Amino acid sequence: PTIYLITPTYDRIEQRAELTRLYYTLLHVPNIHWILVEDSDRKTDKVRRFLANCQIPYTHLNVATPEQLKLKSSDPNWLKPRGVLQRNAGLTWIRSSLDKQTNRGVVYFADDDNTYSVELFEEMRSTKKVSVWPVGMVGGLRYESPICDRNSVTGWEVYFKPDRPFPIDMAGFAVNLQLFFDHPSAWFSNNVQRGYQESTILKLLDVTMADLEPRAEKCTKILVWHTRTEKYKIKNEAKLKLKRGKGTNPNIEI
Ligand code: UGA
Ligand code: MN
Repeated sequence: PTIYLITPTYDRIEQRAELTRLYYTLLHVPNIHWILVEDSDRKTDKVRRFLANCQIPYTHLNVATPEQLKLKSSDPNWLKPRGVLQRNAGLTWIRSSLDKQTNRGVVYFADDDNTYSVELFEEMRSTKKVSVWPVGMVGGLRYESPICDRNSVTGWEVYFKPDRPFPIDMAGFAVNLQLFFDHPSAWFSNNVQRGYQESTILKLLDVTMADLEPRAEKCTKILVWHTRTEKYKIKNEAKLKLKRGKGTNPNIEI
């Protein structure tokens, strides 16, 4: 099976660094298709140029988050959901470009700032319905994890909203491609409570606890980390400009 990786991404100083790091991980993964979805009205030259140099199969999409749903830089990051329309654009592409009868695959929603072990992708490749595993550095714990009894999930080791139907981070599960064909109205939504994106899509895919397949040695190994990159402050450009009349070369892309 092919792994279809849906990655929302948006223009910011850190973007090319994040994408480069993720790409170098994906280079180690056979049979993968990267669906990179920009949060913008148009595809940017920065991402176009980046993908042109990528040596893995990819699809470049874009859709802008409407202004009223966009996070301002002064907002706390949890105020509004992120990546919703972008993941949906990836699902639209999957449903319209792949063939239900012949394509075998697994869909994984991979944010551009997390850290992924190469092993994780081989764990998820055998997903029958939905595979699950722990995620490091998330939910204010060292890690969050499904609780496993032999080969079933019996509960959740989480602190934040443990009563959610599926209290799991986006990075903690993968879905067999067929489920998206069998449930054509399963989408992410901007109108769900904070922390309910994952539960919403899994519910719409008709997933139950009994369908969950533990991976990563019965959920005892951390193979993905919810890393978040520190916001970089370009605080000295203006000062440099004052001091010597110009800042750094604006033609150099960072
Ligand atoms: C957490 C979860 O890990 C995300 O999967 C979930 O989407 C998010 O919360 C949420 O509540 O919506 P977090 O690290 O806080 O993630 O969010 P980001 O990494 O900032 O954003 C998630 C993805 O959306 C990233 O791939 C990011 O590039 C993208 N994004 C972010 C956009 O496409 N547009 C934005 O304006 C911001
Ligand atoms: Mn993140």
